[in-house]
Amino acid sequence: MGAYATAYERSITDPTRFWGLAARDLRWLTPPDRVLDDGAPPFYRWFTGGELNTCDNALDRHIDEGRGDQAALIYDSPVTGTKRVYSYLELREEVALFAGALRGLGVGRGDRVVIYLPMVPEAVVSMLACARIGAVHSVVFGGFAARELAIRVDDARPKVVISASCGVETARIVPYKPLLDEALRLASHKVDHCVIVQRPQAHADLLRPRDVEWSEAISTALPAECVPVAATDPLYILYTSGTTGLPKGVVRDNGGHAVALRWSMENIYGMEPGDVFWAASDVGWVVGHSYIVYAPLLTGCTTVLYEGKPVGTPDAGAFWRVAAEHRVKVLFTAPTAIRAIKKEDPSGALAKRYDLSALETLFLAGERLDPDTYHWAERILNRPVVDHWWQTETGWPIVANPLGLERMPVKPGSPTMPVPGYEVRVLRPDGEEAASGEDGAIVLKLPLPPGTLPTLWQDDERFVESYLSRFPGHYLTGDGGHLDDDGYVWVMGRTDDVINVAGHRLSTGTMEEVIAAHPAVAECAVIGVADALKGQVPRGYVVLKTGVDTDPERLREELVRAVREQVGPVASFQDVDVVPALPKTRSGKILRGTMRAIADGEDPPVPSTIEDPAVLEQLRGILRPAP
Ligand code: COA
Ligand code: AMP
Repeated sequence: MGAYATAYERSITDPTRFWGLAARDLRWLTPPDRVLDDGAPPFYRWFTGGELNTCDNALDRHIDEGRGDQAALIYDSPVTGTKRVYSYLELREEVALFAGALRGLGVGRGDRVVIYLPMVPEAVVSMLACARIGAVHSVVFGGFAARELAIRVDDARPKVVISASCGVETARIVPYKPLLDEALRLASHKVDHCVIVQRPQAHADLLRPRDVEWSEAISTALPAECVPVAATDPLYILYTSGTTGLPKGVVRDNGGHAVALRWSMENIYGMEPGDVFWAASDVGWVVGHSYIVYAPLLTGCTTVLYEGKPVGTPDAGAFWRVAAEHRVKVLFTAPTAIRAIKKEDPSGALAKRYDLSALETLFLAGERLDPDTYHWAERILNRPVVDHWWQTETGWPIVANPLGLERMPVKPGSPTMPVPGYEVRVLRPDGEEAASGEDGAIVLKLPLPPGTLPTLWQDDERFVESYLSRFPGHYLTGDGGHLDDDGYVWVMGRTDDVINVAGHRLSTGTMEEVIAAHPAVAECAVIGVADALKGQVPRGYVVLKTGVDTDPERLREELVRAVREQVGPVASFQDVDVVPALPKTRSGKILRGTMRAIADGEDPPVPSTIEDPAVLEQLRGILRPAP
């Protein structure tokens, strides 16, 4: 058996031994009593009885082992013309001081802190500072609007929010403070304090005594030491889009998370302490949490924090410039970023301008990697390009080509094989296992490995209902696809109302809520349609209230503006059609799946449950305009 097959089999037949061994790579303050605590299915806990501190393992431990002067964080910001390198010692100093400042503001173990920051070092410092004092952070992506931030504030109920005066989107300054103030006005929960990073590009007006500047907060702070927390204590909450307008608060624990991420760096990504890792994502997404912040630092690597885009900052060679300059060994981004580069530099001429000799692998995730993009990236870079599949809920890859263990043959379009710890199955609607090659619901047999979500924030019931009740004994991923004869997993797309726009996970339900609130709209549906650059973009279909006579172009502008202002620019919502009616089942459910299939160029059968087939016929031409 090869290294991959051996590791995989061990992880499934004896998970306690497998993950118990992996846990030895961390510094425990109290060793766990049990590796896998399976006493209360369908809830599982990892490393119960154990105590550690994630920040200790990410910073202090490496300093104690002699890595103090090694670069921990490289901040590279073409949009502000700034570069700064933080050694492990320097980063710990900043983190300990800010942890002390948070303490001074009344934040203690178990308290929540919301972080609404652009890609600045303070984002990493804030996350680690929370971990240091046992507080639970919840980072909200900067591209979300005030209303989305308010929803998260009301659910997480933070004592403190950390934000900045602005973000910089290529050449556009995005003031964050007005969005924060609006969100806190909308939220019912009242926060004690906001800590504001004043950036030179824009000044934020403070509301005293609630608001305090970052520089002020640290000026009087005393550095805080790491506090021991239980392995099962929450490290963070990360909200992700579900099928309804209310996002799901994915909880991540301390122990399982640290063990899984540490293991993944060596065995999946092939990284060793001292290597440079760059995840070109955003700290607001799970990729940013896991592979900009925690995994590289838990491994003693150097991580790159890039405040820029793949194109336009200043050109389509930006990624290659950063990779060359910082001697990046592994680059991780979303396929959409590669498509954006390909569109501007189809021959890959810009990649040839840089010395990419340190770059060994390009990892891609966040959406399906189409074979064209895969082949292009491989040709331009002439090194392995690895597709891997995972979700906010799992926190680390479910299916990958585990280069650190063994390089498996690539099948373009498939993210390769299940990662050790994950038992991937494909089920038919009746729960029977699908045949090889037959599409079905992709599920993971319980228990999930360490690092995956133990539950949703203060909502065990929704956790069970959303993920564990459809196929008892299994976690429902929400993705559809199949396994082939060689055991390769083929992920074909979401089976629910979640869409992936430029690698950003969004809920069509949230957009529908905003559109339905317009006074002219009787009902609406939003679906994701294929887009050559962003993978998917949302498109809305609205039915007007009887007797309403409105200019369709004006209505479109109003709805686009409403989604931008209430969900955020990141939704990229541009297209709305007024239609006479929406296709529904006899029980009144809108047939979004059928609409989606037609828009994607398929010819789905007319569902037997349809109320009026003529409505669907009428819509066909609108859903799929002639090429
Ligand atoms: N704060 C404020 N606004 C933001 C934002 C942030 N953090 N992030 C995005 N936005 C805005 C953008 O400025 C843009 O606004 P516009 O409509 O005024 O132009 C809008 O949200 C859409 O942003 P985006 O989806 O990033 O589109 P883009 O056209 O600016 O760039 C890509 C397209 C493909 C280059 C870009 O989407 C990209 O780099 N994607 C990779 C995503 C990724 O890394 N995902 C993480 C998973 S690994
Ligand atoms: P997120 O929670 O934002 O990471 O989004 C997770 C979703 O993105 C998954 O459920 C998939 O639909 C999609 N996704 C992520 N990676 C891949 C991949 N490699 N192939 C196909 N889909 C992917």
